[in-house]
Amino acid sequence: MRIALLTGGGDCPGLNAVIRAVVRKGEGVHGHRFVGFRHGWRGAMQGELIELTFDNTRGLLQRGGTILGTSRTNPLKSDDGLEQVRRTMEREGVDALIAIGGEDTLGVAHQLAGLGVKVVGVPKTIDNDLSATDFTFGFMTAVQTATDAIDRLHTTAESHDRVIVCEVMGRHAGWIAAYSGLAGGADVILVPEVPFDIDEVCERLRNRHRRGSAFSIVVVAEGAVPKEGTLTLQTGETDEFGHVRLGGVSSLVQREIEARTGFEARVTVLGHVLRGGTPSAYDRVLATRFGIEAVDAVNDGDTDVMVAQEGSRIVRVPLAEGVGQLKTVDPGLLDIAAVFG
Ligand code: F6P
Repeated sequence: MRIALLTGGGDCPGLNAVIRAVVRKGEGVHGHRFVGFRHGWRGAMQGELIELTFDNTRGLLQRGGTILGTSRTNPLKSDDGLEQVRRTMEREGVDALIAIGGEDTLGVAHQLAGLGVKVVGVPKTIDNDLSATDFTFGFMTAVQTATDAIDRLHTTAESHDRVIVCEVMGRHAGWIAAYSGLAGGADVILVPEVPFDIDEVCERLRNRHRRGSAFSIVVVAEGAVPKEGTLTLQTGETDEFGHVRLGGVSSLVQREIEARTGFEARVTVLGHVLRGGTPSAYDRVLATRFGIEAVDAVNDGDTDVMVAQEGSRIVRVPLAEGVGQLKTVDPGLLDIAAVFG
């Protein structure tokens, strides 16, 4: 078989580890041949591809980003986008596609499978907000990077008696904020799932300061929103999947804290730092296991499925289950965090 791979949406540590695992087992054990579409669905539509071999996918395990490039191009935005992908595959003699991506990329993959194209999905996102899998690779790396940053912010906040507001990625779900906030001992964690009341946030900080701590750490997910009617948040332009470009909630929180409590406050936005660089050991293993399962699924003739982590096992689930609904933060995690706030 000739099998294509693509990586779509935001990049994520571990993408290259998936590519390496797919090609290593697919070529070395099953005897298949591989190509990679460049820049996600854009390359699939326009026929931009490269050969992937055992030899040219060596040394990828620890390399961040994606050697294929990525984009947020959405084939569903043009009338015949899916047809273009199908035509490219026919022309190039490609029998099946392994799509590595988040909700958007896998949503397109599911539609393509509906047209009879053989497609297997691999869930990826640092946000960990895909359903039907316990974890996505990239998440643990992002959490570790955020935790290391929060540890550093702690010492400078303490030295200056300041409140530091640390913004992490997490558009719709606050998994990174919840995990890194817990791991870094944050005093307040704000997530998109629970609109915040700035008065309550300030009161918690005042209480903490009354109890003798002269500094605090607030971790805020970029998608966190104030309770309706309390504060106004600016929003920006949207991408091809209709997502608003975020950024700004941490500055708003910092300004309000300073104005309402009189505590000196600063902001640090971690942003794309969380997506870059080498994957953690956990993510290298998860990405490798996902890649092996995905190429086995193609080899078995499966289609319209996604590989997933269920407990300690790697399984195959219908793609529709992965993209149906976003997986939001377990409220139990936030209850635990509240004990330490
Ligand atoms: O990959 C998902 C994500 O990390 C979101 O948390 C974030 O809002 C988004 O990517 C930003 O990506 P970009 O700047 O590439 O559009």
